[in-house]
Amino acid sequence: MPVATPVTPVEAVQSLKETENVSIEAYPSSFYADFLSEHAKNRLPSPIRGLFHHEKVPGMISMLAGKPNPGLFPITSIAITVRSPLDGVTEKTIELKGETLEEALQYGPTHGIPRAHKWFMGLQEVAHNRPQAPDWDLSVGAGSQDLIYKAFLALLNPGESVLVEAPVYAGVVPLLVGQHAHCVEVDTDEHGASVESMRHALENWPANKPKPKVFYTVPYGCNPSGVTTSLERREAILQLAHEHNFIIMEDDPYYYLYFGSAPRPPSYWELEARYNDRPRGRVLRFDSFSKILSSGLRLGLVTGPRALVEAINMHTASANLQVSSTTQAIAYTFLSDWGYETFFEHTRKVSEFYRRKRDVFARGLEKHLTGLAEWTTPEAGMFFWIKLHLPSTPVAPEGDSERVIKEKALEAGVLALPGKSFFVLGRATPYVRAAFSLLDENDVDEGLRRLAEVVKAIQA
Ligand SMILES: Cc1ncc(COP(=O)(O)O)c(C=O)c1O
Repeated sequence: MPVATPVTPVEAVQSLKETENVSIEAYPSSFYADFLSEHAKNRLPSPIRGLFHHEKVPGMISMLAGKPNPGLFPITSIAITVRSPLDGVTEKTIELKGETLEEALQYGPTHGIPRAHKWFMGLQEVAHNRPQAPDWDLSVGAGSQDLIYKAFLALLNPGESVLVEAPVYAGVVPLLVGQHAHCVEVDTDEHGASVESMRHALENWPANKPKPKVFYTVPYGCNPSGVTTSLERREAILQLAHEHNFIIMEDDPYYYLYFGSAPRPPSYWELEARYNDRPRGRVLRFDSFSKILSSGLRLGLVTGPRALVEAINMHTASANLQVSSTTQAIAYTFLSDWGYETFFEHTRKVSEFYRRKRDVFARGLEKHLTGLAEWTTPEAGMFFWIKLHLPSTPVAPEGDSERVIKEKALEAGVLALPGKSFFVLGRATPYVRAAFSLLDENDVDEGLRRLAEVVKAIQA
C-alpha cells in the first residue's frame, strides 16, 4: 500500500486510514522499507530456499535442491533422555525415528524446521497473549546472539543512530562499534531506561541528522544492571517509539528468569498488541533457550514484523542456511512431549532456583560489602550490578573498577567483570558485574569477603 511520503509514522498511519478507509491494525510491509539497511535491501533471495516450500505440495516431484540422500546417513537413531520438570526426578527416553529423524538429519527451511517453528509460534502466542496473525512471524537462530547480530545488520547502515541502555549488554558493543553505529546512551535507574533521558535525546535531536531507528534494550533482569523495566516505563517507551519512529529491539534472554514478588510486567511485544489507537509492529523480540534449556544447544528466536524477520532470514540463507535441524528436532521432541504448561512449569522451577541463588548472594553482599558498595537487588536474571565505593581519580570522579578488578581482585582470588565493558564508549566506572548463577553459599561468602578486603585496602 503506497504511502505519500509520510513525515511521521503517526501521519503515515493517518494517511493510510484516510486513503484506504480501513482500520490499520499492523503496519504494512512497505512501512519497514525505510528501516532496512542497504545491506538488507540489496541482498538477493536464495534461489533454492525461495522455492523450498513447494516441495510440500502433494504430488510434487522435486528436483530442486541438492539434498543428500538420507539413506546414506550413518545415524539410524537419536535417543534423548529428559528429566521431568514436574517432579525433577523421573526420566523419560524419547527416540527420534522415522520422519522426525529424517527431518532432523536433513536440510530444512531457513526460519526453522516446520514442527519446531509451529511449536514456537504457539509458544509466543500463549506466553505473550498475542494471537498468531499474518503481520508477524518468527525465525529460529543459533542462540539469540546470532539473530541480534543479523538484526542490527538488517537495520543499521554505518553511521546511523541507535539508542542503547547505559550500561548495555557487552555482547552487542563490538558489533555496534564494528558497524560504526552512532550509539546514544540512555541512562537507566532501578525501573529501567530513563524516559526523560530518551525523550531529551529525541526532542533535541539535530535537525540535519536522521533520528535513531532502533532502541536496544534487555527488559528483564538486564545484563549487566539486573534491572527489570517497569510497566510504566515500557508504556512510555512504546509511546516514544510511536512518536519518534523507531523499532524496539527487545533482547529478552531472562524473561523466563523473572522471580520478582509482584506480577511480571508484559513483554514489549505483548504490550504493543494491547493498544488499538496505533498499529502493531514496533517490536522485534529476541528469546533465548540458553538459560532455560541449554546454552550449548544454541537455540534462540526472533519474533516480530514479518518484513524484518524476512530480512534476517535472507541473511541466514546466505550465511549459514539455517540452524542445525538436529538441534531443533531434539528440542522440539521433548518440548512437544511436555506441552506448553509443562514448559512453563520448568521455567518456574528454573526461576525459583535463581531466586534462591539471588537471595544467598544478597545476604553475602549485606554481610561483607555494606558501607563499601551499593547495589539494587535484581528481580530477574543472574546478575548483581555493584557500585564499589572507590577513591576518585582525575578522570573518574566515582573511581574506576577496571584495575581494581583486573589486578587487585584477581590477586585476591576473586573474579568479576569490570563495568567498563558495558558502556559503548568504554567510560571509567566504579561498577562491577557479578554473576550469581553458579556459586554455592560458601563460594559466595568467601568471594564477597575477598572483594570486600580489596575495596577496604584501596580505601585505606
Ligand atoms: C542480554 C543478552 N543477550 C543475548 C545473549 C546471548 O544469548 P544466546 O546464548 O541465546 O545467544 C546473552 C547471553 O548471555 C545476554 O545476556
